[in-house]
Amino acid sequence: MNIQEIARLADVSVSTVSKVMNGKDKDISKKTKDKVLKIIEENNYIPYARYRVKEGLINRFIGLVICKENPHYSQMVTSIESALRVQGFFPVVLTAEKEQEEIDNAVYELQKRGVSGILVDSSRAVSQYLENCKLVYLTDTSSFETKQKNTFYFHKYEAGRLSAIELLNAGHQKISVILREAEKIILDGVEAVYGEQNLPRQFITSYIGEDLNGIRQNGLISCVSDSSTAVICGDMEIVGCVLEYAEQIGIKVPEDFSVICVKDHEMLEYLAGGITAVGYPIRQMTVDAVDHLLQMVIEEKDSEVTRKFFPEVIKRNSIQDIGKRKDGHKIVIVGSMNIDDNIEGVRIPVNGETIIAKNILTLPGGKGANQAVGVGRLGGQAYMIGRVGKDADGRRLYKSLTDNGVHTDGVEFDDQADSGKAFVHIDRDGENAIVVYRGANENLDEAQLKRHENIFRAAKYCLLSSEISREAIMVVKKSCRENGTEIILKPSGLEEVGEDVLFGIDYLVPNEREMIRIYAGEDLTMEEKAEKLLQIGVKNVIVTLGKRGAYLKNKDHALYFPSAPFTPIDTTGGADSFISAMAVSLSEGKDLLYSIIYAIYAAGITITRYGVQNAMPDKKSIRIYMEDIEKQYAEIKKGEEEHIKCKKTKI
Ligand code: RIB
Repeated sequence: MNIQEIARLADVSVSTVSKVMNGKDKDISKKTKDKVLKIIEENNYIPYARYRVKEGLINRFIGLVICKENPHYSQMVTSIESALRVQGFFPVVLTAEKEQEEIDNAVYELQKRGVSGILVDSSRAVSQYLENCKLVYLTDTSSFETKQKNTFYFHKYEAGRLSAIELLNAGHQKISVILREAEKIILDGVEAVYGEQNLPRQFITSYIGEDLNGIRQNGLISCVSDSSTAVICGDMEIVGCVLEYAEQIGIKVPEDFSVICVKDHEMLEYLAGGITAVGYPIRQMTVDAVDHLLQMVIEEKDSEVTRKFFPEVIKRNSIQDIGKRKDGHKIVIVGSMNIDDNIEGVRIPVNGETIIAKNILTLPGGKGANQAVGVGRLGGQAYMIGRVGKDADGRRLYKSLTDNGVHTDGVEFDDQADSGKAFVHIDRDGENAIVVYRGANENLDEAQLKRHENIFRAAKYCLLSSEISREAIMVVKKSCRENGTEIILKPSGLEEVGEDVLFGIDYLVPNEREMIRIYAGEDLTMEEKAEKLLQIGVKNVIVTLGKRGAYLKNKDHALYFPSAPFTPIDTTGGADSFISAMAVSLSEGKDLLYSIIYAIYAAGITITRYGVQNAMPDKKSIRIYMEDIEKQYAEIKKGEEEHIKCKKTKI
């Protein structure tokens, strides 16, 4: 549009238009002057904006300075454009780098062209602007300059908070976060929630990557393959990488692994049945900012308004509520917590012998703590009741539980006694012999158990091991009976296992040596002893047989289960792993035969690794053997009778 065209449209001469523009219009009738000004306004003739302002007409162009790398660029531009158009205004968009100078220049350019107002995408105030041009800032942080009079913002950090809360509410504790460098503030939000809920920071595995390549090469292995149950992804592309990787390693979303994206995108609706995401309040924020700016422009007045907007969770189908899934299937573990001195030699020393250790290693152990960690790592709900000394060993034992998702309300620190200790001799075949000093474990008494009675009330299974006092064992038995909690007992460390301990036990899980102690001196085979145990009220006897698998005796079955194909390096804790896996499987509603096979594989994995707690499998490592487990189970179900290999084993 130029002056000639305006003259033509108004049906006047060019000099008349010029006179109106320059205010030299005394000899021009009001009617003609109005006609010229109306055409100027309708056509948004920018060069003459100042005349239109002088005449009380409004320039209907509004500037938008937006950073090139703004991740919400297109959504912001579209939303601002439509909000302006509804009110008869039009956007003039200039993009800028994030540097202040670039933003200042862009604002200055727009002011020179006479726009009535400008929306500025920045957290810093522009250095100079003209009086008659109104400014409103838009930003995604709460740390903007206080000089910015009119600022509409949301805080990206809130997206991290919201995602963490969403996952914690669904029962996830160990989570991963994968972000790009520019979004790392989101991790602060996640960590803040963990701080508020007193959860250890170590439950969060994070990877901040420069680009998708880095994320693919390094981030996925650490974040999708560790023992976390859910991941927070920075954007839709990261979600894509996670889904691809999960498929490659056989992890199902959301059954095995939950996913939330901190930035919504329409494509997320179509990925893996719908990915839950955090929606930023871009539309609401831009519409309100436009309204506010136009109000300032139309009423020609300044204001000082700071308005915060909040992201919200858009629920789809990618978060598994593991809290709900496990309701009523809590597992309480009562037993020892020891620091293990693992002494590796060619053989285990016998009377009068001194041998040289090849290696020694000090690690958290104890049957109770091992079983609790085993349950936690397999995704079960583990509640530990145990006692440690008020010493560095005690703190280490406690931390190992929290690191593995075990609830530790029932763990107490003893003022008087040191933490329990175990001296574990391991020979070159991985076989072991253990000497336990009970220490604080011995002081786990009725009073402590009563303080945590509520845990028994909520638990379906109790894993009980006997490196604690006989008095404590009897109190646990009573609490379980009163609360309908089924006991899985490992009868180790007892000089003599009396019928008072064994009576009414739901699952008794001894090894062969422990079976020898039971009814010692009576000339009975293992099967006969198992039968005798059933007669005194043990419901299921499950003997772990090391390289030969396991044996089950109950009212319906007398079955031998083969071992899993693993070569042992260190058999310590194999039985703890067996018990925790069996309990998790039962708590998930699987039957006993399946749970024993599952437990054999879990124990098999543990003995191929050195140590105990760190050697326990998580769900992902056992999943590799799922086909074998299912196959064996199908075989056992098919021919239960054929499978009974009742070769009487004399012990
Ligand atoms: O079952 C193995 C455990 O037995 C060791 O960790 C040791 O502490 C003893 O309790």
